[in-house]
Amino acid sequence: MFLKNKHNSRVQGMTLSMSTKTIFITGGAGFIGSALIRYLIADTTCRVVNVDKLTYAGNLESLASVASSERYHFEREDICDASAMTRLIAQYQPDAIMHLAAESHVDRSITGPAAFIETNINGTFTLLEAARQYWDALDDEGKAAFRFHHISTDEVYGDLEPGLLFTEDTAYAPSSPYSASKAASDHLVRAWQRTYDFPVLITNCSNNYGPNHFPEKLIPLMILNALAGKALPIYGDGQQVRDWLYVEDHVRALYCVLTTGKVGETYNIGGHNEKTNLDVVTTLCQILEQLAPDKPAGVTNYVDLITYVTDRPGHDLRYAIDASKIQRELGWQPEETFDSGLLKTVEWFINNSAWVENVSSGAYQQWIDQHYEGPAR
Ligand code: NAD
Ligand code: TYD
Repeated sequence: MFLKNKHNSRVQGMTLSMSTKTIFITGGAGFIGSALIRYLIADTTCRVVNVDKLTYAGNLESLASVASSERYHFEREDICDASAMTRLIAQYQPDAIMHLAAESHVDRSITGPAAFIETNINGTFTLLEAARQYWDALDDEGKAAFRFHHISTDEVYGDLEPGLLFTEDTAYAPSSPYSASKAASDHLVRAWQRTYDFPVLITNCSNNYGPNHFPEKLIPLMILNALAGKALPIYGDGQQVRDWLYVEDHVRALYCVLTTGKVGETYNIGGHNEKTNLDVVTTLCQILEQLAPDKPAGVTNYVDLITYVTDRPGHDLRYAIDASKIQRELGWQPEETFDSGLLKTVEWFINNSAWVENVSSGAYQQWIDQHYEGPAR
């Protein structure tokens, strides 16, 4: 069976036809989840149910372009709430669950790990159990077609020595409370497959960047600080390496794995873009010199705003993904280079001042509070 998408690409050997299917997405108001939902509504015919608690990282303004679609549904709920998960899964009868809801910021996990344990570990367990009970009651055809896709990070593999790459067989060695909690959730998902035959897929992806990225993470923080004439804080010496992937390439990979991936398998996703943090920030400054030459008062060159600050405790020095399995077996590869993706990202932040202003001022949360009932943040 073939799936033809808007970009005219063809995916052969689909194991799961999604043409009229319902996908239950957790964490769909976050950075990657919102990009995934925009993609699914624009480029597929799937029905999407977005289940999100709307923590500080959840922003429904990132979904404004799909909010009026008849194929989009939003439910403000906490994945740790077992009865809410059971009720919603029964109500929507999903063909697949894509689990993205998580606490995702390493620095926050260092100062406040409890929420990471609660959402990333207990929340994943709660969702797995609600999903398994639903799956267990499906007929044979429904059971065979169902997928639970767990979205995870390359940070579970820990600090990588020079010259090596993370493969799907690399041993887990997480360093931060965030990566340890994601590692725990990956283990739970694998155990549910092995013990109950529950049909799971796992993806571990490198650092994402792109539109709608919450400005606590390196790239959006640096863009917005530079535009405001604020310091650009580099942890330690800035020689730590991350492997960057444009978020729209990640969501194409997720859909590819959901529809063509082999049950029980893990796929690493990465952009082959190893950069030091200092290189990333210096490149951003160069792009801003071109796109925003009218600088804030007192700023001669954006790069002069770079400030070295105390390093992050337990900071991993290097991550880099070997993405050859997903390319070889499923035919996915990134469409953006680091240069093209970074340019698009800076342009997006410059051109979307209302989104930026509402995030910076906190107005996006007031808007949520006025429009939705649900669990407290
Ligand atoms: P994000 O922090 O931007 O969004 C997380 C979303 O989850 C938010 O909308 C938040 O409201 C929601 N959420 C949090 N706790 C919840 C709960 N208890 N119940 C329901 N919803 C809840 O995160 P992101 O960057 O979009 O990452 C999404 C997923 O991808 C995470 O699982 C993360 O570990 C993984 N990941 C992220 C990256 C990256 O570079 N950002 C890379 C690889 C993997
Ligand atoms: P981040 O975007 O928080 O992602 P992660 O920690 O999940 O990789 O950080 C990316 C890299 O940038 C990481 O090595 C930490 C570094 N960093 C800074 O140097 N300064 C900053 O202000 C931030 C937020 C991150």
